[in-house]
Amino acid sequence: MIDQEMKKAVLDNFEKVFGSNDNVKAYFAPGRVNLIGEHTDYNGGHVFPCALTIGTYGAAARRNDRKMRFYSVNQDRLGVVETSLDDLNPSDKAGWTNYPKGVVWAFEKRGMRLDTGFDMVIYGNIPNGSGLSSSASLEVLTGFILRDIYGFDTTNQDLALIGQYSENNYNGCNCGIMDQFAVAMGREGSAIFLDTADLSFEYAPIKLDGAKIIIANTNKKHKLTDSQYNARRSTCEAALAILKKSLDIKSLGDLTIEEFEKNKHLLEDPDMQKKAKHAVYENQRTIQAVKALKDGDINRFGELMRQSHESLRDDYDVTGVELDTLAEEAWKIPGVIGSRMTGGGFGGCTVSIVRDEAIEEFKKTVGENYKKKIGYDATFYTVEIGGGPEVI
Ligand code: GLA
Repeated sequence: MIDQEMKKAVLDNFEKVFGSNDNVKAYFAPGRVNLIGEHTDYNGGHVFPCALTIGTYGAAARRNDRKMRFYSVNQDRLGVVETSLDDLNPSDKAGWTNYPKGVVWAFEKRGMRLDTGFDMVIYGNIPNGSGLSSSASLEVLTGFILRDIYGFDTTNQDLALIGQYSENNYNGCNCGIMDQFAVAMGREGSAIFLDTADLSFEYAPIKLDGAKIIIANTNKKHKLTDSQYNARRSTCEAALAILKKSLDIKSLGDLTIEEFEKNKHLLEDPDMQKKAKHAVYENQRTIQAVKALKDGDINRFGELMRQSHESLRDDYDVTGVELDTLAEEAWKIPGVIGSRMTGGGFGGCTVSIVRDEAIEEFKKTVGENYKKKIGYDATFYTVEIGGGPEVI
């Protein structure tokens, strides 16, 4: 569902900032929300995200020289950020443009070299730093634009992998594949049941009769590189290395709950054991949740969402008082089918499935109790599941 005003604004800004609209095209890439399967994507486990109808709008045109010029309507005070294909190094000064630059760099690493530069304007309606993948959206948008204007031969799945590669190696966040995959492969009305061990996936239609997906933003800013995200990943890798000495596994996602329980004593560090436990249990929960959905048992799905949050709070330790307050207040409200933190954690958003008749009460009561405890407001959005990137 393309927002025509956003499209118009991105094109108008292109003309205003770069002086001409010749050869310019407009594009869109979505944000994403993960319904269940958190911190499993770098552990060879399953995830269940969906693309959203909010995302990043872009306008771009090829140039005749090697310059790249970027402008963000959201960060207009930075003005035009100019660089060149001969300067593909990340820098603090480059700010948000490190994301598109990183994608250009990653294309070149794969042998897809740009002979000329481009001008690009972006305008997003994903709240920044909300954990709804504004960065993955921008990465996939950039890849999609490069493919379109230079005619590179890549699939959408490649665009996801290129985006992740640039995020890992250019922007310093050791993220998994979930976000870029959900953005690049999104399908309207469906979530993506993805096995991150081999990237096999299936689309699962989400038909919520009489209920909606509501995102609640803690409005606590987080940045994954600053947070303990990379540290969690290292702990899981260390646990895997220990377990591999005795077990024939490739990832924590290979373990069933029974196998984990039988072998967890091998992880002598109690903290490491808890982190590995989350990775194993969350993967199994995700498989069960998708099964429940297919069986039409939405209440079971909701119960598993709650267990997911509890595990992220108690074992994986990535929630914090803001996310806990939103989720715990939501669970108290009749008509809330399920509620949990979504994304990397430490701030950002919760995702809840709420019956239509309970939505007002949910926003009011959770909102009031959040403000009472945390001191500032949470923000609520009712979201729709959208499709992948497109020319608009
Ligand atoms: C962030 C990362 C993803 C994933 C989630 C946690 O969103 O970018 O790769 O690890 O956190 O599930």
